[in-house]
Amino acid sequence: MSSNDSSNRVISGMRPTGRLHIGHYHGCLKNWVQLQHEFECYYFVADWHALTTNFNESSKIEDFTFDTVVDWLSADINPGLSTIFVQSRVPEHAELYLLLSMITPVSWLERVPSYKDQQLKLADKDLSNLGFLGYPLLQAADILMYRAGKVPVGADQEAHVEITREVARRFNHVYGREPGFEDNALAAIKKMGKKAARQYKELRKQYLEQGDAEVLSRAQALLAEQQNLSVGDSERLFGYLEGGGRIILPEPKALLTKQARVPGLDGEKMSKSYGNTIELRETPENVEQKVRTMRTDPARVRRTDPGDPENCPVFALHQIYSDTDTLEWAVQGCKSASIGCLDCKGPLIDNINLQLAPVRERAKQFEENPDLVNTIVVEGSEHARDVARETLEEVRAAIGLSHR
Ligand code: TRP
Ligand code: SF4
Repeated sequence: MSSNDSSNRVISGMRPTGRLHIGHYHGCLKNWVQLQHEFECYYFVADWHALTTNFNESSKIEDFTFDTVVDWLSADINPGLSTIFVQSRVPEHAELYLLLSMITPVSWLERVPSYKDQQLKLADKDLSNLGFLGYPLLQAADILMYRAGKVPVGADQEAHVEITREVARRFNHVYGREPGFEDNALAAIKKMGKKAARQYKELRKQYLEQGDAEVLSRAQALLAEQQNLSVGDSERLFGYLEGGGRIILPEPKALLTKQARVPGLDGEKMSKSYGNTIELRETPENVEQKVRTMRTDPARVRRTDPGDPENCPVFALHQIYSDTDTLEWAVQGCKSASIGCLDCKGPLIDNINLQLAPVRERAKQFEENPDLVNTIVVEGSEHARDVARETLEEVRAAIGLSHR
């Protein structure tokens, strides 16, 4: 497929950290599930990325990868709709990473905020390795490999998408030049058919004169519809629109997920490292036990003390899982001390369990049938490789490395 389709493609990845929890679901997976109905989605487990910070704890990566895929499937990421794969099963990512490393200044990587932040935060880890410095570039290779237009991520990943755009721009600038570019572009326009060619020229002129982003996207949409352009001609015409050379690697956009802050059992952000999670595959009994022992508003020392739901992580979970009537009941009851915290937790437990029921149901199927999970990953990775090979062929050709 050509860069024509890039605006319809979505890619995102997750490092394997073991079983996922409801924080992952509301912060990310729920959105991934939605996107698969609208776009061509690629979701992968970034196992090489896990090595960048945990190279000395590599023995868990395989199990964690399996758990991650089972949780995705259980959350209803559907292999019939989306391509599910594992990064290390598509070794082409490593070649693209290497080639991109040639045009990427080290200073770009050093100034990505997560580089210094993580070194400070994970002070007990040895993060002086080249692989850690290269983390955002490996991520850029992941994204550019699929020429995906959209990358659903949380705000913490925005800087990584930004550096991806910079690397793509530089790549296109360095390798998208060709002798006779203008003549080639004009010849390509003729291949579009009279009407489309006229519209293209008109929109391009308007855009170059007025710089209107709306006009640019109309022109890009027009190009994306053209069936009879070769990949090379399509790249030329995307590039010609903006005046430069060919666009071999289109710049992606971050699709920022509104991050529902899911509180953990102690009121801090839900995170495996804090040990305050409710896992997606948690049993109903565990959900009950965990919620029953959850921290509540510290002002409610005695049952007769009124509380404030705003200061209570139980209420924050209610807001995710309960309907407005239940929320109103909790607010009233809490502020007037007419209900106790255990009363308040009851419907929350029921609602969480209700929503987790289909997830558990699907999980059971996959846990009982690991071969099925494996087949999904193998097939997804094969499909991803086909796309990756096409991109790499063009990347090599643009650099001048087609001899093999
Ligand atoms: N860095 C991402 C994270 O920690 C994971 C990731 C790796 C990723 N490659 C990616 C996300 C490509 C989106 C696209 O969450
Ligand atoms: Fe929290 Fe509900 Fe107790 Fe109020 S009554 S403090 S909202 S658990």
